[in-house]
Amino acid sequence: MMKSNTMRIAVFAGDGIGPEVTEQAVRVLEKLSLPGLELVEGDVGGAAYRKHGHPLPEATLDIARGVDAILFGAVGDFGLDSLERHLRPEQAILGLRKELGLFANLRPARVFEGLEGLTSLRPEVARAIDLLIVRELNGDVYFGEKGMRTTPDGRRQGYDIMSYAEDEVRRIARIGFEAAMKRGKRLCSVDKANVLETSQLWRDVVIETSAEFPEVELSHMYVDNAAMQLVKAPGDFDVIVTGNLFGDILSDQASMCVGSIGLLASASLAEGTYGLYEPIHGSAPDIAGKGLANPMATILSAAMMLRYTFGLEEPAARIEAAVAKALADGVHGGDLGGNAGTREIGDAIVERL
Ligand code: IPM
Ligand code: MG
Repeated sequence: MMKSNTMRIAVFAGDGIGPEVTEQAVRVLEKLSLPGLELVEGDVGGAAYRKHGHPLPEATLDIARGVDAILFGAVGDFGLDSLERHLRPEQAILGLRKELGLFANLRPARVFEGLEGLTSLRPEVARAIDLLIVRELNGDVYFGEKGMRTTPDGRRQGYDIMSYAEDEVRRIARIGFEAAMKRGKRLCSVDKANVLETSQLWRDVVIETSAEFPEVELSHMYVDNAAMQLVKAPGDFDVIVTGNLFGDILSDQASMCVGSIGLLASASLAEGTYGLYEPIHGSAPDIAGKGLANPMATILSAAMMLRYTFGLEEPAARIEAAVAKALADGVHGGDLGGNAGTREIGDAIVERL
């Protein structure tokens, strides 16, 4: 873990509600009076495209390479969806993940006390949820060859190639096993090995890797069944390890099982301690700029940053406890059926630190 006396953090707020929610997370970090905290801002996403003509300008990448961690808001802008794909806002986050080797995405989901009745599940089912999705972030159909072409008989055809090489699977499998060792020692690998060769290799390599972790109980599940089990018996999961696409989908699903996507934080880690931390929600253009967004997922992402990049468990736990307390005290944003605004939620957490 980091032992230097500076904590250099880039804040990439991005689009939509990104600036509002990161602002509150920065307030929380500043309130903790962490020694050596240095914040630097950079442009990403649609905001960067509108200013510099590119969603991930070279200057932003330079900032990213010069810091210890990134706090990321959100990217996405309907007004730019007709641009060529490489210029769309989403390319900022995909580009950062790839350029910085952020291959391991940790997405924890648990039900905060008092929210059991606010999830999409029956309270007794929801109450048991405490799981971690470990999503591979640098490969899969996301980064394979893709394009548009015309078939010989003149039909338009889109294609995206799904593939994983064994080393890519092995390194994320290890992250999954290591995470399981620190938790309930159960790892469920999710794939679609009944249909996909990519998944067959995935499963083979996960099984090979399991030899390094004899204490972890390994199981395998097809992704369609995993989607079902996530709503039927989500409390049965400890750690899930899966590929980029399946992890994207299952983590959104998990967010509804615990109440709101406005509560789910994530860490995207490279080898070592470097990480990018972001809420799993998007830019929510419908409520952007209105002060209505729930900043809790971003604030919880900042807590993950303190824990994973800086090895600061104590302040990380303090942030998490303050969020839990605010929720228990009824500080609920619109995403939870309440009426607390962005700033008010930030205030409530800062007060409870
Ligand atoms: C996520 C998001 C991204 C993804 C988008 C914005 C490209 O949905 O982080 O889950 O698909 O990975
Ligand atoms: Mg997603």
